[in-house]
Amino acid sequence: MKIISVVGARPNFMKIAPFIRAIEKHNTTSGNKVEHLLVHTGQHYDHQMSQKFFDDLNIPPADIHLGVGSGTHAQQVGNTMIAFEKVIADEKPDWVVVVGDVNATLACSVTAKKQHVKCCHIEAGLRSGDWTMPEEINRLVTDRLSDLLLTPDTLSIENLKKEGVEDSKIDFVGNIMIDTLEGQRETAAALEIRDVLVSNLLIEGSAIPSVTEENYAVMTLHRPSNVDLKDIFTPLVDFLTGEVAIDMPLFWPIHPRARKQLELFGLWDKVVSTPNLVLLRPIGYHDMLRLNMNAKLFLTDSGGLQEECTVLGTPCLTLRWNTERPITLYEHGGASVLVGNNVERIREEYQNALVKERKPVRPELWDGKTAERCLEAILKAS
Ligand code: UD1
Repeated sequence: MKIISVVGARPNFMKIAPFIRAIEKHNTTSGNKVEHLLVHTGQHYDHQMSQKFFDDLNIPPADIHLGVGSGTHAQQVGNTMIAFEKVIADEKPDWVVVVGDVNATLACSVTAKKQHVKCCHIEAGLRSGDWTMPEEINRLVTDRLSDLLLTPDTLSIENLKKEGVEDSKIDFVGNIMIDTLEGQRETAAALEIRDVLVSNLLIEGSAIPSVTEENYAVMTLHRPSNVDLKDIFTPLVDFLTGEVAIDMPLFWPIHPRARKQLELFGLWDKVVSTPNLVLLRPIGYHDMLRLNMNAKLFLTDSGGLQEECTVLGTPCLTLRWNTERPITLYEHGGASVLVGNNVERIREEYQNALVKERKPVRPELWDGKTAERCLEAILKAS
C-alpha cells in the first residue's frame, strides 16, 4: 500500500511526526509494508517556521517539495492543487493523509478526491462554527470529502454525525499532537529557561529579566482577527505592555504576520522598548514546550497551544471568541478560557488566572498512542 501524507504549515509538523514513526514501526514488524511519501507544500518556508521542526522532531526530509510559499488563500490553495495533482498522477497513491486545518489540508484533500484517491483526515470533526475563519472552511471541506475521519475527541464525533457523516467513516483515535508532546517532554524538560530565551532573542543583546519557575507569562498571537485590524491589535498591545509586562516577565515569540502588522501600525517601537517584554523569534518545539511547562500563564490564539496547556495544566487565556477545541475549556475540564479580544474581558479573566493552580488534564485517548491507531484505522479501511 502507498500513502502520501501532506504537511504545509507549522502546526502540521507535530502531527505528522508520530504518524511517520508509526509507519516505520509497522514496516519493521509487518510483512505488509507501507510505502510512504511525505509532501511539503511549502506554505511555511522560513527556517524557524519549518526546518527547525523537522530537526527538533526528527522528521525525515520531505520526499517532494511543492514550493508554494506565501500568497493569498486562493493563490496558496490553487498553486498547491496544481502542483499536487501532478504528484498524484505520477505516484498513484492508495491514500492521501492530511492533518489539521491549514490551506495544504484543504488543497490536497480536494485534489486527491478529484483524482479518485482515498483521503484520510487526521484531526477531523473540530468545529468552531465561525465561517469567517479560513481554518473552519478548510475543516468543513476536508471532512466532507474524506473517506476516513479520525477524530481527536468525542465532541468531534458528534459534530460529524450532526453533519450526516456515516458512522463507518469515523474513528475516534485521540489527539496525535499529544503523541509528540509525550515523546518530547523529557528533552524539553532538560532545557534551561534562560538558555531558551538567550538562543531565541529577536533582538540580539536585549535584556532578559530574572526568571524563576511560574513567575512568567508566554504569549503568541497570529490570527488575522487579532492582528490584522489596528483598532483590535493596538489595545491588545497596550494591555500586554502596560499591564501584563508590569506584573511579570512576558515572553513573546513573534509570528511573521504579527510582526508585519506591528510595524504597519506603528507599534513596533513600543513593544521593543517595553522592559520585561522579551521578544523572541518563532521558537522551536522543545523551546516552546519548555516555556509552557513552567509558565504562570499562557495568552494565545493558537489552537494547538490550547491543547498543550490542557495537558500541561498551564492556565490559558485564549484570545478568541470561539474555539474548535471546546474540550480544552474549563467547562470541559481543560485549562483554557475564551477571552476574545476585548481588553476588559481579558483583564477580568487575567486576574482570575493569576490565582489558578496548574492542573494537568488528560482527555480520553490523549495518551501518546494516537498515531498507531491512525495507521491501524487506515489499514483496516484499505
Ligand atoms: C497558517 C494557518 C493557520 C496556522 C498558522 C500557524 C492557514 C489558512 N492558516 O496561518 O491555521 O495556525 O499557519 O503559523 O493555512 N510568512 C513568513 N514566513 C513563513 C511563512 C509565512 O514570513 O515561513 C508570512 C507570510 O508571508 C504571510 C504571513 O507570514 O504574510 C502569514 O503566513 P500564512 O502562511 O499565509 O498564514 P499563517 O497566518 O501563518
